[in-house]
Amino acid sequence: MNLGVLGINFAYVGSAALFIFGLKMLSSPATARKGNLLSALGMLLAIVVTLLSHGLDYRWIIIGMCIGGGIGLFAAYKVEMTSMPEMVALFNGFGGISSLLLAWGEFHQHPEMSVFLAAVAFLSAFIGGMTFTGSMVAFGKLSGKISQQAVIFKGQHLINGAILVAALAAALIFSLTPASWVGYLFFVVIVLVALGFGVTSTIPIGGADMPVVISLLNSYSGLAACAAGFVISNNILIVAGALVGASGIILTKIMCKAMNRSLANVLFSGFGTTTAAATGGDGPQGEIRPATAEDVYYILEAADSVAFVPGYGLAVAQAQHVVRELGDLLEANDTEVSYAIHPVAGRMPGHMNVLLAEANVPYDQLVEMDDINPRMDTIDVCVVIGANDVVNPAALDDENSPIYGMPIIETHRARTVIVLKRSMNPGFAGIQNALFFGENSRMYFGDAKASIQALVAEFKGSD
Ligand code: TAP
Repeated sequence: MNLGVLGINFAYVGSAALFIFGLKMLSSPATARKGNLLSALGMLLAIVVTLLSHGLDYRWIIIGMCIGGGIGLFAAYKVEMTSMPEMVALFNGFGGISSLLLAWGEFHQHPEMSVFLAAVAFLSAFIGGMTFTGSMVAFGKLSGKISQQAVIFKGQHLINGAILVAALAAALIFSLTPASWVGYLFFVVIVLVALGFGVTSTIPIGGADMPVVISLLNSYSGLAACAAGFVISNNILIVAGALVGASGIILTKIMCKAMNRSLANVLFSGFGTTTAAATGGDGPQGEIRPATAEDVYYILEAADSVAFVPGYGLAVAQAQHVVRELGDLLEANDTEVSYAIHPVAGRMPGHMNVLLAEANVPYDQLVEMDDINPRMDTIDVCVVIGANDVVNPAALDDENSPIYGMPIIETHRARTVIVLKRSMNPGFAGIQNALFFGENSRMYFGDAKASIQALVAEFKGSD
């Protein structure tokens, strides 16, 4: 079936509209699932129309779809929520290598390219190649397969700069003579340099900063796809790539802002090395007030308002379902319950929202940091569940702290704070937290899930 250029582009406009509405709906947890579905429908439409519009060899496509679909299905069922950033890293990498291969395939078949086409083929191959190896390094660091440490060596920025200059020089020669053996040789050089650059530019970044890097690589994979769209003159690939590129960079910016760090600081400061050196012994010290399940039960039972403040430990403990159960019991006890969400709590964007949505926590109980902070003094009890940096007052008052300037959920201003964690170990930034030593703080030690289960048992036992 031949849809004709007009028919194809008409369908592509429909796909693009579905992508854009889908993206818009992703901005709220209440509509995110529908938004995901809508975007997936847009992609299905784009794929079907593309397949119908060309005289393609369907055998290869069916084999590719079966392998890719199989991996996707397996990953969707098997991958733990805490491993999601690794999976996204892999997918970004696959997107990058697809753009590289697409540009290479097109160039191989039609080497007589205009300077413009050669330039976009360079962009597609270079950005795609560096996205691939950069994502593999990010995956390795996050999954612990390679050292999470930021690998810094002397002259690193100079070397990376030189690699970039070499790539641009190769691109110039390639763009001017794509149809000659010199052009081909330089295209191969570009590919090799891109693959190397992905490694050298990602390896100096500490494992803990990888989520930001993954978001940036996501943006790169979109830009590579956009350039690939120009190479093969496919409008929907250009649009989809541009949307991914733009949304990835916006997300990167939001994450950096929420951590009060510049993108340059994330990419070039080697944050992982400095923070890994810090120990829990540094920073504020003092007396802590440990509490038992029974103590905490009495405090919660008497509270009129309770705000849960989840962090990375909630994800580690997979405590979201028991937290919801405790929330329900508190509500049944006429307590006003809310869940205060910090934008960078956990290890990936929307981490806490995803976990709480999985446990069907009502959306109207989710409160953003900027909404809860002004009324923090009126909250009876804040229950900090495996959060540390995002509630560390050093961000507000210690100019020497690595997290100084980062907005936090100001739990220290609540009437009582209960902190659930397993030890006095620091969190991501590697620094101690004055909140734990506050007059109004009680430390409830243990795995968050087990600790909350004990509270649920106390509430149920009291019926
Ligand atoms: P963290 O500061 O990393 O603190 C997590 C706390 O959870 C730790 O103190 C740990 O203490 C506790 N914990 C771990 N497992 C636990 C368990 N099973 N039960 C109970 N507690 C447990 O987490 P946060 O407050 O969510 O802050 C996130 C940090 O990650 C921020 O510094 C942020 O800048 C950074 N970051 C976030 C992102 C995104 S997008 N979310 C991206 C990059 C970086 P114990 O070991 O003593 O239990």
